[in-house]
Amino acid sequence: MLRTDTPKAIHLKDYKPSPYQVSHIDLNFDIYDGYTNVTSVISMSNSADNKDDLFLHGEDVELLALKINGKTISTYKTDDQGLTIPCPSEKEFKLEIKTKITPESNTRLEGLYKSGDNYCTQCEAEGFRRITYYLDRPDIMATYTTRIEADKEKYPVLLSNGNKTDSGSAEGGKHFTIWQDPHPKPCYLFALVAGKFNHIHDTFTTVSGRKVDLYIYVRPGDEDQCAHAMESLKKSMKWDEDVYGLEYDLDLFNIVAVSDFNMGAMENKSLNIFNTALVLAAQETATDADFMRVESVIAHEYFHNWSGNRVTCRDWFQLSLKEGLTVFRDQEFSADLHSRPVQRIDDVTHLRRLQFAEDAGPLAHPIRPENYIEINNFYTMTVYEKGAEVIRMFRTILGAEAYRKATDLYFSRHDGDAATCDDWIKCMEDASGKDLTQFRLWYSQAGTPRVTFEGHYDPVKKIYSVELSQKIPDTPGQSGKKPMHIPVAIGLIDQNGNDLIDTKILHLTESQQAFTFENINSKPVPSVLRNFSAPVILSTNLTDDDYAFLTKHEVYDGFNRWEAGQYLHRKALEKLTGAFESGETKPDINQNYLESFADIYINALNTDITSDERALLARTMHLPDISTIVQSRENADPVAAYNARQYLLAAIKRTQKPLLQKIYKANEEKGAFSVTPDAIARRALRNEALSILTATHGTGCAKLAKEHYFAADNMTDRMAALMAIAPNANPEREEVLEDFYNRYKDFQLVIDKWFSVQASSVRPDIIAHLQNLRHHPDFNIKNPNRARSLYAAFAMNNPSSFHAQDSSGYSFLADAIIELNSINPQIAARLLTPMRDWRKYTLDRQTKMKAALERILETPNLSPDVFEITSKSLK
Ligand code: BES
Ligand code: ZN
Repeated sequence: MLRTDTPKAIHLKDYKPSPYQVSHIDLNFDIYDGYTNVTSVISMSNSADNKDDLFLHGEDVELLALKINGKTISTYKTDDQGLTIPCPSEKEFKLEIKTKITPESNTRLEGLYKSGDNYCTQCEAEGFRRITYYLDRPDIMATYTTRIEADKEKYPVLLSNGNKTDSGSAEGGKHFTIWQDPHPKPCYLFALVAGKFNHIHDTFTTVSGRKVDLYIYVRPGDEDQCAHAMESLKKSMKWDEDVYGLEYDLDLFNIVAVSDFNMGAMENKSLNIFNTALVLAAQETATDADFMRVESVIAHEYFHNWSGNRVTCRDWFQLSLKEGLTVFRDQEFSADLHSRPVQRIDDVTHLRRLQFAEDAGPLAHPIRPENYIEINNFYTMTVYEKGAEVIRMFRTILGAEAYRKATDLYFSRHDGDAATCDDWIKCMEDASGKDLTQFRLWYSQAGTPRVTFEGHYDPVKKIYSVELSQKIPDTPGQSGKKPMHIPVAIGLIDQNGNDLIDTKILHLTESQQAFTFENINSKPVPSVLRNFSAPVILSTNLTDDDYAFLTKHEVYDGFNRWEAGQYLHRKALEKLTGAFESGETKPDINQNYLESFADIYINALNTDITSDERALLARTMHLPDISTIVQSRENADPVAAYNARQYLLAAIKRTQKPLLQKIYKANEEKGAFSVTPDAIARRALRNEALSILTATHGTGCAKLAKEHYFAADNMTDRMAALMAIAPNANPEREEVLEDFYNRYKDFQLVIDKWFSVQASSVRPDIIAHLQNLRHHPDFNIKNPNRARSLYAAFAMNNPSSFHAQDSSGYSFLADAIIELNSINPQIAARLLTPMRDWRKYTLDRQTKMKAALERILETPNLSPDVFEITSKSLK
């Protein structure tokens, strides 16, 4: 059926508390082959004056029985959204509901579903309504008792939230466990797991001396890849005590890893469920980046125990309250454990690449959206990453001490609440005494602010004066925006590289504002927006020489030292891209800029530098990617951007080969593999050198990449080799890809890498090659990791192929989206991301992308998920 109705949007302004409340829910899961019976006994109350019907959400559940206070009811109505019961006569009552569900056929992976032979749940945001009829909204909080009964042989492990209070045998070869969760929670935090797992165990003693049992459950055979996750968990528990004063509140904490999972991981109370990709990590199978990611996601989900679970969200418009805050917390955790500037560089790179693009496109929305059709579509880069930037700015504006006072206040004042973003802001105000009225605009205005900086030195008056201005671009549904409160951190550096002032936060609150610094005795070079103090696009009146100066002398702020280099890279790449767009084939490259690489490389060869500095230099060597280059252009041509980048890499290689070879040699691993910061930084530097040395894809490149591959004793180096060789047409490519496949065919997560490295590589026959991969026996579109490893890797990481002029890339992706629409709408909608900003590209591409979107919109039975993104993109 074609979608003739428009799915209805939900609006923040329509929020109303529920007259019906739940104090406790007794759940019983009886698991059979092919179906599961769920009984729930809900202790409910109705407010004194309410006479409205009781509506309970429910989707794809079969109602078997319905009773109130033991009496069967027959005057109810069901539709595809839920169950309506006439207002019960009692104010306090027990509602008993028996439903039947079929987890075996659940391909959406929301609610109760099977991953391989195991059962698991995913209830955020609205999955609980696929398990049973309930008030599926986060402001309905209750305590839970959960009984699970299943075959003892097939499902030896039966888990739910809270503490296990009983277990035993049941009839017909079955067994049961009973779980009690004493902390009231919304149903999106409910979880259940039943299956065959092995586990590792450890303990953590909290600051007040309570011993907590920690378990990580994985597929039998994977338990030797869990040690890193366990260490990460213990570090997270300690960090939250040290930095936020927050202690764990139960005696048990479980993590379960499953192979089929829409997202990365989920913070269900005391029973976190993870995508295997974010738990398993071993030298042979995980890259250094994977190790870091596992650590930060474990931390993120653990941190939700306070920022999300103890204090939850009133409604889904408040999502950034828990996600933005928790992302900020996990970023700071990683910064404390590793290199602070490098962490900031990686976070900002991610923000710019994906969130800035979102903020500039048809789906731009504030971190607190005002309406949505499908909430799953609003787990966005904006809510998460810009949300985290907003929390960071609170800390910048309040200062670390007042910020901690304010978070203490928030966690005590709102413990047990379903809170709002306004509640959070109020705590920031109350604890600091600051008026944050204007700052609130960050919650309601979308779009990345443009900030301009102009600095001038008056040598006579010894004054350095600064003019700052801001402009917030129009976004869909929002124009004529008000100026925001933007904290701009600034340093002034003299010609010898000394800081003339302590970093100063300039509070930009008007469209245009002047600031002065007195007693500045010599002409300084300003370092603006240190540590990226606000998520804005900055332009300045600094010269290229000023930026070149900062790449060497901005020693106080590692982020801005790197940023100065990125500015110069971006500028060179934009110029070259423009030249390629207008048909030039041999454009000039600024010689000064090209020669500046020698300085970077000589610095990288300095044996005295710290490992953090080495890691930072690896990032400085790295040129901005195509999606970042494309962002600053109108009618962009990603093929031209790719050609420009390759052209520049070839020139760098040609002019700097000896130094690059030295870096490559000097950072070779000596002795046994390790994951110390030094070893990680050396691998990063060496593999960056490798990628430039192999960028021309010739025979010598193939030879070097192959050698690198076979000499590797870890996944970081193997992947670097694979990425270097995948776009290379020489015979070594097939040899290496085949070896990789055979070596790792039993490791699903590594085979994901095998798919994604090929989908991300530029080669003339890419679409034919993708078609082969799609039909590979190991390809399975129903597994989200595998689907992403092909489709998202191609469309997001291979822009010049995806945007091939013949539109083959668009068709390939559109076919996948249409196929996934009926299998897993959440994943289908995510795959639309690279199609949303179709208006950014050349006119011919616009026409073709639009046609692909229209084809998707005409698909029969289009899910609300895909409908929302597609229709809003076309609007
Ligand atoms: N609460 C989310 C998981 C989630 C997201 C469930 C969307 C349902 C819909 C979880 O805390 C989360 O944010 N996970 C992230 C990883 C995190 C480190 C940013 C994810 O899964 O990508
Ligand atoms: Zn989260």
